[in-house]
Amino acid sequence: MINANTKICCIIGNPVGHSLSPQMHNAAFTELSLNYVFTALKVTHLKKAVEAFRTLGLPAVVVTVPHKMDILKYVDGADESAAKIGAANLIINRNGRLTAYNTDWTGALKSLKEITDLKGKKVALLGAGGAARALVFGLKKEGSLVSVFNRTRSHASQLKEEFCLEEVFSLTDSAKISENDIIVNTTSVGMEPDDKVSPIADESIRSSQIVFDIVYTPHMTKLLSDAKKKGAAIVHGYKMVLYGGTGIFEQITGKRAPVRVMEEALLKNLK
Ligand code: ATR
Repeated sequence: MINANTKICCIIGNPVGHSLSPQMHNAAFTELSLNYVFTALKVTHLKKAVEAFRTLGLPAVVVTVPHKMDILKYVDGADESAAKIGAANLIINRNGRLTAYNTDWTGALKSLKEITDLKGKKVALLGAGGAARALVFGLKKEGSLVSVFNRTRSHASQLKEEFCLEEVFSLTDSAKISENDIIVNTTSVGMEPDDKVSPIADESIRSSQIVFDIVYTPHMTKLLSDAKKKGAAIVHGYKMVLYGGTGIFEQITGKRAPVRVMEEALLKNLK
């Protein structure tokens, strides 16, 4: 029941109408009978929006595209991961002090660690943008050996220098991609409505590999479908949304997240 004591949380972004965070978090609040509500707000003027959160004293704000980097300019502090990645997806308000966190990397790592160890594994990271930075931060922490494959070489080289990665290649370098134990796609290639394409040729994939696509619409991307046909193990993108979300829920409420309830809410609304 929503009443005068209900704590209001929201996700801000632009666009934000497609976000599944409200369904996922509201299902979890209901499951644990917590007096919270979670909604979505389209934000065009980030600085003014942050001033409004401070004024209203909202307990937590989830941040999505295109504000994940700029939000760091308007908060009072950031944890180590958000600072190093240069992006945050969660702001927690503690007595008026706003702190930025990043659960994209923890969500991605948990998705992979469900099926494999990461220490010493060779990872082909496709893409060199914001999402790639979060993955690289986490993979390096786990002791993986990361090579970057990207359309624009200079972007990949920049990432390699900053995070001391292995090597830089083109997305068309199938032989090099196939040498890796794990392939992670962080590019937007294959996302609806352009869901008939894959960022790499299918000869880049071997049956012994694990292929993780962070694109979650469609559920079965062309890359994952190619990987499945090759006999490789696949990890769907919604897992990163789920485990990033459970991290957010636990930061906000201090309670253990009801993972299966959140997964059900996510999958029901994805289909
Ligand atoms: P995000 O924050 O979601 O990672 P981003 O920072 O814009 O988004 O990064 C998008 C990534 O997808 C980049 O690596 C981009 O490649 P470039 O560095 O060459 O721009 C990659 N990307 C986007 N569209 C692509 C396409 N059509 N083909 C290949 N790579 C693409």
